[in-house]
Amino acid sequence: MLTFLNGEFVSEEAAHIPISDRGFLYGDGFFETLRIHNGQPFRWASHAARMERAHQALRIPTAIDSSTFSKVLCELARRNAQAEGIARLYVTRGSGSRGYSPRDARSPTVLVTMHPLPEPTPTPQLQQWTLITAQSVRLPPPNPLSSFKHANRLVQILARIEADDQGANDAVVLDHSGSVAESSSANIFWVLDGVVHTPPLETNALPGVTRSLVIELCARTNLDLSETRICPEDLNRADSVFLSLSSFGIVAVSRIGAAPIPCSALVHRLHEAYLRQLESECPAGDTP
Ligand SMILES: Cc1ncc(COP(=O)(O)O)c(C=O)c1O
Repeated sequence: MLTFLNGEFVSEEAAHIPISDRGFLYGDGFFETLRIHNGQPFRWASHAARMERAHQALRIPTAIDSSTFSKVLCELARRNAQAEGIARLYVTRGSGSRGYSPRDARSPTVLVTMHPLPEPTPTPQLQQWTLITAQSVRLPPPNPLSSFKHANRLVQILARIEADDQGANDAVVLDHSGSVAESSSANIFWVLDGVVHTPPLETNALPGVTRSLVIELCARTNLDLSETRICPEDLNRADSVFLSLSSFGIVAVSRIGAAPIPCSALVHRLHEAYLRQLESECPAGDTP
């Protein structure tokens, strides 16, 4: 696959990043993962807004403006003949001298990689995932790093190791007080008596691009949505549970630990509304 590194389209083999890069040394950077559909980035404005928050919070200067970035994504999809796929953007502070001070790091690294859609492909069928609840880690309380995808993902990695060990697709991650926040890779929703619930962002759940879209879709389809806290034991008794993430869209949850979770018609309805939105925002033959 072709990648985009610091302004140039280069093959993966030719894309080199120095060992002094602070993204490699300290996780001094942030990333975005987004869906490419019909050769176009889905919900680019929301991803770009989250990247802008990351630039501001980490004080990493912007190397590429948002509209150029969007063109780069379309061009990378085109050059890779990858009309359907996943793009990953990684911005680091670049290279500097040894130590935490970023004083000498003046030239950010910007890398974009393209990946095939995960298997089995998330569209058009609704995926069913099994979850466990992570026991070894919890999210920290909300902090200046809460609102974007900073490059320090060890909590999520440890939670995912627990899921892998137990043969589950993902892990529910709790906030510091023990209430459900999200999964290691997605935002979480549940349905109770026809109302859709999701934890408030005060749990330190990531403000997911797809989470915002699900909230929009609920409003548009006249579904009541409530930001509610829930403990893991009560989540197991919900009418349905589902996840939202850019790479898969909406994913139904079929089991949490030993508890089977039903999948209601409402989850299918939201999944279909998500697919319609994907198609209407990134129509075939509309690549700039
Ligand atoms: C921890 C976490 N929460 C939520 C999400 C979902 O965010 P988005 O819908 O922006 O992909 C992700 C996506 O990678 C994530 O890593």
